[in-house]
Amino acid sequence: MQVIRTIADLRSHVATWRRDGHRVGLVPTMGALHPGHASLIKRSAADADRTVVTIFVNPTQFSPQEDFATYPRDEARDLDIITGAGGHLVFAPEIREVYRDGHRTKVEVQSLGQTLEGEFRPHFFVGVATIVAKLLIQALPDIAVFGEKDYQQLCVIRQMAQDLDIPTEIIGAETVREPDGLAMSSRNRYLSNAERIIAPAMHAAISQAAGRIAKGANPATAAAEAVSEVLSAGFQRVDYIAARDAETLREPAKGRPMRILATAWLGQARLIDNVAV
Ligand code: PAJ
Repeated sequence: MQVIRTIADLRSHVATWRRDGHRVGLVPTMGALHPGHASLIKRSAADADRTVVTIFVNPTQFSPQEDFATYPRDEARDLDIITGAGGHLVFAPEIREVYRDGHRTKVEVQSLGQTLEGEFRPHFFVGVATIVAKLLIQALPDIAVFGEKDYQQLCVIRQMAQDLDIPTEIIGAETVREPDGLAMSSRNRYLSNAERIIAPAMHAAISQAAGRIAKGANPATAAAEAVSEVLSAGFQRVDYIAARDAETLREPAKGRPMRILATAWLGQARLIDNVAV
């Protein structure tokens, strides 16, 4: 597996592939890869002739209180997973290659990026939209694959690509879960053994709420019940559990697709998940 570190190398590989008539896929990640990431790489490899996986722990999407310094990094292990999943090239730049001295531009997606997760982490989607816009412009892929696991992030990225006229098809891939329902995440390793047993309760609670809403329950009531269930399972704090319009993430309206989005704290881990209604 070839690893490149510069934007110039990335552009020259993609240009060669294009000259040979290949369709190019991009899978952005922060490394610490698991089967959820592998599923995105497989999805890209099924749809494109060449897949670039990026590994970059993006500092601008972490606040000073968050886990940027301690975020798990294991490039050798990541490369094995990328090879196994059918990736062709890894772009793993240093911070100074991405944010050169004097970097001043931020990309902000209003409304979609300012609700829910955006209220709790105001820096977050600006950091994400900025880095993903840069990666899409650097690689100019035909497709880019993102996980529904981070559902609001997927919505923000679709909007950003549309608004900035980036001609890449944004593909959402289903969440990969542990057998007990816990969404796979690089941050699950922050859970103790006892917390790991409690963790699937959040997916269980939002799945039940989705079932109740599908049978006619009031969305806000069902979401409030899910909050109580998650807290009584042993989570310390719920940042939000909300039923929203699946596209706009505004308050849900009858007859429109709906999504339940949830984030709650269990020990050191802030778990995030969502389900369709
Ligand atoms: P990261 O958390 O490494 O996730 C990279 C991609 O993998 C994202 O699209 C995420 O939604 C997806 N993913 C994570 N867990 C998944 C699971 N269990 N099933 C399916 N897909 C899953 O998300 C980021 O990095 C960053 O914000 C990034 C987009 C790379 C920008 O820095």
